[in-house]
Amino acid sequence: MMGAFAFEQVVCGSGDTMVVRGISGRVDPGRVLGVLGRNGVGKTTLMRALSGFLPLAGGRATWQGRDLAGVESHRRLGLGIAYALQENVVFGELSVADNLWLHLPDRNPARYADAFAKFPLLVKRLTQRSGNLSGGERKLLSFARSLGLAAPMTLIGAGALGT
Ligand SMILES: Nc1ncnc2c1ncn2[C@@H]1O[C@H](COP(=O)(O)OP(=O)(O)O)[C@@H](O)[C@H]1O
Ligand SMILES: [Mg+2]
Repeated sequence: MMGAFAFEQVVCGSGDTMVVRGISGRVDPGRVLGVLGRNGVGKTTLMRALSGFLPLAGGRATWQGRDLAGVESHRRLGLGIAYALQENVVFGELSVADNLWLHLPDRNPARYADAFAKFPLLVKRLTQRSGNLSGGERKLLSFARSLGLAAPMTLIGAGALGT
């Protein structure tokens, strides 16, 4: 079976320092792939490369068999690949609703029907300031916001998905 999202022998880093050297993996529909490692080992660097914020110095990433080289991060988002940040995931001074619709002026609640069904607490907190949510609740809000962009979405993130 063709993996929805796959990466092979990825090499990436900053400047001359390649912190990720030859990492491979794949995420099939409905599955979760965990990338574990101690602090500073290169998890965030790998996520930035896979989401298109950092160029690959070697290897490749593919989406449904298509090479993602040269596909900018916002285009990857359009394909259904979202980067779930580990920190500063929402605008704390804005309400939950404004965080969800900031980038979607249509304010169409149908976009979030699945996310609201999964995370009903967000519905109860729509008018509240996001900064008053717990850290875990802010992560849920951030995931919901990504899920509203397209369906289905593949979320990639380091340290973000276990909270
Ligand atoms: N922009 C950068 N410039 C220079 N070095 C960086 C940069 N970003 C990360 N690094 C270094 O790359 C290594 C891996 O960092 P990172 O990917 O954030 O690790 P992790 O997320 O696994 O904790 C660390 O040694 C870090 O200091
Ligand atoms: Mg990190």
